[in-house]
Amino acid sequence: MDRAPGPSVRLRLTLTYAGFLMVAGALLLATVWGFLLRDVQVVSHGPGDFTPVSAVLLRSYLPATVGVMAFLLVFGLVGGWILAGRMLAPLRRITDATRLASAGSLSHRIRLPGRADEFRELADAFDSMLARIEAHVAEQQRFAANASHELRTPLAISKALLDVARTDPGRDPGELVDRLHVVNTRAIDLTEALLVLGRADRRAFARERVDLSLVAEEAAETLLPLAEKRRVSLETDGDIAPVLGSPALLLLLTTNLVQNAIVHNLPEHGEVRVRAGASAGGGVVLTVENTGDRLAPELVATLTEPFRRGTERVHTDHAGVGLGLAIVQSIARAHDGALTLTARPAGGLRAVVEFPAEARPGS
Ligand SMILES: Nc1ncnc2c1ncn2[C@@H]1O[C@H](COP(=O)(O)OP(=O)(O)OP(=O)(O)O)[C@@H](O)[C@H]1O
Ligand SMILES: [Mg+2]
Repeated sequence: MDRAPGPSVRLRLTLTYAGFLMVAGALLLATVWGFLLRDVQVVSHGPGDFTPVSAVLLRSYLPATVGVMAFLLVFGLVGGWILAGRMLAPLRRITDATRLASAGSLSHRIRLPGRADEFRELADAFDSMLARIEAHVAEQQRFAANASHELRTPLAISKALLDVARTDPGRDPGELVDRLHVVNTRAIDLTEALLVLGRADRRAFARERVDLSLVAEEAAETLLPLAEKRRVSLETDGDIAPVLGSPALLLLLTTNLVQNAIVHNLPEHGEVRVRAGASAGGGVVLTVENTGDRLAPELVATLTEPFRRGTERVHTDHAGVGLGLAIVQSIARAHDGALTLTARPAGGLRAVVEFPAEARPGS
């Protein structure tokens, strides 16, 4: 915003300081004068005596008074200027940092030294805001880079398949069509996943009362054929678990967790347990647990990042996008819930999504 230039805060503080000093000095001197004059009146005998004595007083004290006032003025102006400068110095650092940040340098921090006061609180709040924005921007950049990389892959595969078909017309076109179909489906899945992620992040969905235990049952039922194919036993139980949210997104959240639990499981005799119910804090909790390889806690902490896949893929032919858990997390957050992943000591993963106590619609 363009503003007309005005007097600086430092100048205004200086003038205020000097002004107060002058007023206080004048009051003090007036009081002294008042007492002096009264005493002179008491000491002098009769009205004839009074005038010359006060005239003498006036003559000898007036220059001193003027001198004192002049000194106070200079002292007030100089002292006020220095004091205001010192008081406002942190503000200059904060302003400089703000200018740098608005010019795009998010890595700069104010780091104001000293004990807590209003300026330091402001500087600290500003520093933590910058740190959050910087992390957020970095995450967005990483996300955009990963998304374009992942979207490029199916397109590059299609192009390679088409190139081969063009140079070798004798090949079976049916095979080409099948492979192109697979690659294309994967690209569509990826795009849809990205759209869901954006929709959940923006919280752009209608909310209604949903029983999470029914949602969990539905997800388990849909995925039962997959579990059977992978010879994983799937067990669900739970009681009424009301959540205020989007049925479609909550189903997606549950399906992603259960699907993960099935596909990232043991090659034989895997087990999956799904449970939805009331949590101790009056909210709702969904737990999906599965057997599987032992997972390092450091790895588990990173699994919710978009496009993050577990390192070893020994037993499984499942080629995931790596967006499942990122979607689960952003759907949970959009419902004010939280996803917690823990590596089970015996191997496999426990995913817990906790939703807060149901908020009244419209509140
Ligand atoms: N229940 C689980 N048990 C063990 N490992 C898991 C489990 N869920 C996720 N993982 C690990 O976390 C990684 C990320 O999971 P995520 O769901 O985000 O991606 P994905 O399953 O690989 O792909 P998709 O986008 O198709 O879901 C997986 O690749 C897997 O290594
Ligand atoms: Mg997954």
